[in-house]
Amino acid sequence: MGLLDGKVAIVTGAGRGIGREEALLLAAEGAKVIVNDVGASLQGEGGDKHPAEEVVELVRAAGSDGAVNASDVSSWEGAKALVDQAVDTFGSMDILVNNAGILRDKMSFNMEESDWDDVIRVHLKGHFATSHHAAVYWRGRAKAGEDVTGRIINTSSEAGLYGNAGQANYSAAKAGIASLTWVLARELGRYGVTVNSISPRARTRMTEGLFAEMDTATEAFDKFDPKNVAQLVGFLASDEAADVSGQNFIVFGGDIYATGGFHPVGELHRDSAWTPEELIAAKGELFRGISSGIPKFSFF
Ligand SMILES: NC(=O)c1ccc[n+]([C@@H]2O[C@H](COP(=O)([O-])OP(=O)(O)OC[C@H]3O[C@@H](n4cnc5c(N)ncnc54)[C@H](O)[C@@H]3O)[C@@H](O)[C@H]2O)c1
Repeated sequence: MGLLDGKVAIVTGAGRGIGREEALLLAAEGAKVIVNDVGASLQGEGGDKHPAEEVVELVRAAGSDGAVNASDVSSWEGAKALVDQAVDTFGSMDILVNNAGILRDKMSFNMEESDWDDVIRVHLKGHFATSHHAAVYWRGRAKAGEDVTGRIINTSSEAGLYGNAGQANYSAAKAGIASLTWVLARELGRYGVTVNSISPRARTRMTEGLFAEMDTATEAFDKFDPKNVAQLVGFLASDEAADVSGQNFIVFGGDIYATGGFHPVGELHRDSAWTPEELIAAKGELFRGISSGIPKFSFF
């Protein structure tokens, strides 16, 4: 008996890295899995079906069933074809893990228009397009009187929550995904759908050589193995997480932080507007006990 017996899942960008481990974990828990991946380079170029095909073979070897989907998730029609394939192949669609992503890191003054457009498109539109078509499907079922247990698990990043120099495109997309998570959670709860996001840390081609602490597994417990991240996704995908929605989790190794949303760190109140001159005088009160400079990047 698996936690996800009888469920059908889609994992985007599941040919490699974190998505691969998510697909394998969901399959090990009994879900049938559509393994989506265009097989692009880290920068989003080219295409290769082989990584997704390999993952489907592993899904089957684990005793579940799966199928390859090579749609570009940032294509409206491709995202629709992905959701349709799950329903047509396995009879339903219960879990959508939005994970596919690319990187084009540059300082804002060096960034080209295409670097901005492509990263925002793959991450932000790539999350929304699939979620839109899944939402249409779940709402239709709920309106037809069926019990729906839908799950969307998005992939944000600490770069989105805190802002990372050199990643204007990526951080903005990931902050957008965190916000999109709140919106979708508010909209889809009435149809039986929960929506959460994770901000993972794991050793993949995306982080290779960037963080010394991630580079090699030094101890018996490999803290930055993407398998660790997949475990949280398994929980969020389950019926037992029906009361968890609109949340973001920073996750790596055995560490999980529920981050909540933006919240005030200082405040001013009165029954009339503050003029700029008055704000100069009140600045100390607004930032009492905290810095008025760039907020600390909590976890990097
Ligand atoms: N690795 C980390 O520490 C880390 C940290 C924060 C966030 N993330 C996020 O986790 C997710 C997975 O990253 P990863 O580290 O496993 O990277 P990865 O490069 O190993 O995997 C990403 C996969 O997405 C696929 N992909 C790219 N564009 C696609 C598209 N348009 N349609 C379908 N598939 C596409 C790629 O082919 C690739 O297999 C990404 O969203 C990334 O931003 C990763």
